[in-house]
Amino acid sequence: MNNLREPIASLVATPAAGSAEAFAHYLKNTASRIDVKTEAHALQGGARVGISRPHESAHLHVAGEAAYIDDLPELEGTLHCALGLSPVANGRLTALALESVRAMPEVVDVITAADIPGANDCGSIIHDDPILCDGEIRYVGQPLFAVIARSRDAARRAAALAKSVATITEAPPVLTPQQAHALGQYVMPSMHLERSTSEGGARAAIARAPHRLKSTLDVGGQEQFYLEGQISYAIPKEDGAVHIHCSTQHPSEMQHLVAHALGVASHAVHVECRRMGGGFGGKESQSALFACVAAVAATRLRRPVKLRLDRDDDFMITGRRHCFWYEYEVGYDDEGRILGAEITMVSRAGHSADLSAPVMTRALCHFDNAYWLPDVSMHGHMGKTNTQSNTAFRGFGGPQGAIAIENIMETIARNLGRDALDVRRVNFYGTDGNNVTPYEQTVVDNVIHDLVAELEASSDYRARREAVNAFNAQSPVLKRGLSLTPLKFGISFNVAHFNQAGALVHIYTDGSILVNHGGTEMGQGLNTKVAQVVAHELGVAFERVRVTATDTTKVANTSATAASTGADLNGKAAQDAARQLRERLAACAAEMHGGDAGDVRFANDQVHVNGKAVDFPELVRNAYLRRVQLWSDGFYATPGLHWDGKTMKGRPFFYFAYGAAVSEVVVDTLTGEFKLLRADVLHDVGKSLNPAVDVGQVEGAFIQGMGWLTTEELVWHPQSGKLTTHAPSTYKIPTANDCPPVFNVRLFEGQNHEDSIHRSKAVGEPPLLLPFSVFFAIRDAVASVAPAGGECSNPPLRAPATPEAILRAVQALQAQAA
Ligand code: MTE
Ligand code: MOS
Repeated sequence: MNNLREPIASLVATPAAGSAEAFAHYLKNTASRIDVKTEAHALQGGARVGISRPHESAHLHVAGEAAYIDDLPELEGTLHCALGLSPVANGRLTALALESVRAMPEVVDVITAADIPGANDCGSIIHDDPILCDGEIRYVGQPLFAVIARSRDAARRAAALAKSVATITEAPPVLTPQQAHALGQYVMPSMHLERSTSEGGARAAIARAPHRLKSTLDVGGQEQFYLEGQISYAIPKEDGAVHIHCSTQHPSEMQHLVAHALGVASHAVHVECRRMGGGFGGKESQSALFACVAAVAATRLRRPVKLRLDRDDDFMITGRRHCFWYEYEVGYDDEGRILGAEITMVSRAGHSADLSAPVMTRALCHFDNAYWLPDVSMHGHMGKTNTQSNTAFRGFGGPQGAIAIENIMETIARNLGRDALDVRRVNFYGTDGNNVTPYEQTVVDNVIHDLVAELEASSDYRARREAVNAFNAQSPVLKRGLSLTPLKFGISFNVAHFNQAGALVHIYTDGSILVNHGGTEMGQGLNTKVAQVVAHELGVAFERVRVTATDTTKVANTSATAASTGADLNGKAAQDAARQLRERLAACAAEMHGGDAGDVRFANDQVHVNGKAVDFPELVRNAYLRRVQLWSDGFYATPGLHWDGKTMKGRPFFYFAYGAAVSEVVVDTLTGEFKLLRADVLHDVGKSLNPAVDVGQVEGAFIQGMGWLTTEELVWHPQSGKLTTHAPSTYKIPTANDCPPVFNVRLFEGQNHEDSIHRSKAVGEPPLLLPFSVFFAIRDAVASVAPAGGECSNPPLRAPATPEAILRAVQALQAQAA
């Protein structure tokens, strides 16, 4: 594990060598892109936010010294756990002959559902998720029992006997969302989100429109592929308590679910996470099964127990991004303006609810993307299938909602023989009545017009459109494609009460500062941003501040670090704590040196009071001697949010983040291969807290989203229901080689109109929608094999656009044209 590295996002955000000099060099080289102000410049102004600085652990990441859970020194007597998995997708478990498993070398214990002292459930919202099989076989890979052995290898060898020791009465599996939909088999009640601005609503508006379009679309799922797999290390403590080191985005939920599984109170469970080697949503709810099993084994055997999954097992047991199937009908006018739209979305939820309902809510709330849809009717169904339970993945349904309308925009444009950008533009949200989302939130901060206009100019979109057409006219096999796609993404958890956070700030008598907050670090740079906020508030050098592991014994009842809200929530909470400390210190300074406490200034590691400058540590020492409390808690709750889950109306989002990208590809129409030649990105992060980290997030999300839409394909065997693409040998994530040779990423100049932390905007997920432009550039290239314009000019391209999918679309279009 020592050689584990964070994926692309961090690779592009950090230098090749871990030193501060290397980072300075990197910043200099990228300064033109991200408008870096140097540390010296910033020091003069005293700002600690709004400047690029390395990830707080960059020097450890690059030296292999950042400790992940498997790097923690193992306590003496540590045992290792492995899970025995179901070889069958659907049926009933009638017998488990575990004697042979127990007889395997080094095996200490075997645990089944009956051995769980509390609830056999690790469901995050709905309690329909057994930790170990309770008799009902739900998917290939479902954990049936846990083996605890003296070594990890021995545990895995014994667990592998699952295939032969389980007696299962088999039933045929339901695998696709369409199958589940046809059977009316869902994990949660279906959702409907409708808005009418005219007589008869969406149906009537479609019927009245000059043009109509009716079609379907298929978009695949995606594996998170965090480089550090799921892992929990549970250590029994006195009096029935347990301490769990868990790679998780949601320590509080792990605490609650472990407490339920053990049948103990939450105060007996201590969950800790210093950092994850990536989470991407995959460790929001799904770290729970492993935390629960490790905790049950550790408390039962009174020995430390580690459960670290093998990559293949991680694929087989845990869920991922939901694949979606869509059926839609829209009515539009001669300019491509959408007058009415009806869409049915069906997701592959898997065997249990997990986060499928909030994912579908976000999908429905992002079908509008950046567009005014006057009359719209949306339906969301969460198909229950005999597959892994699907869950959060960067964007959380938002990408799945928005890609459908983008496919519609492209199709309308081609039907009308117009440029897709022009069709998009006539549909953008405006300011006069046409600025209300289908869920009735008014879009008050719409920068999409300006942002797209800027990118259209800086990327030379129009001239390149001409060049692409000219290229295609003389190139029979290689075809180029170009596309500009916009995005608007709502920031906040749809459930209002999750939008709260807490923090603790301690100032020690030497002037050093320790910060703890409820968010988790997964490579996204959250701790760096929170430390910057605290350093800024107290006017001290960044190096004075250290952020410690997320810990349920420090900040209680935290939300998942998810929905991109980490810095928004925890930054504000830490700022609140730091402000209280600053006020106490200012009062102390005024008491000692005279003047008004309100005039005391904190900057450049000094405190300016009544014409004097006192070093920060000196004031802290004096404050201690005067018995001033030098630590504080802080709290934040996002204001103004409300949501009615029944009517699906309200103000679910504090604000929106925007962005747009232009991508140019070349497609080989004989092999179906493609190459991204150039991408230009303009992305809105408000007033960036740390431009280097934000650009890293934008670049990483772009490449990750491109993987989802192009190379990453999940295949379940149609008879057995086994996921056949369960390792990097068969499941292809993008690599550094897939980054385009020309990749111009810029942050949009602006600030959050809401009072967010230093007027920044969340950046974690929104840029995952940018590579829609790659998918539609491929679609554009494919379209050029047939004459332009009209109903037969749209390639039936599904996502992911693998070479096979591209080739099928090419051939289908050629056949239509002939
Ligand atoms: N970046 C890295 N390097 N690793 C990750 O696991 N997760 C993404 C995003 N960026 C992730 C990442 C997801 S799914 C979310 S919701 C946000 O980071 C969470 O962190 P934030 O709220 O602090 O932005
Ligand atoms: Mo991110 S999908 O909200 O963890």
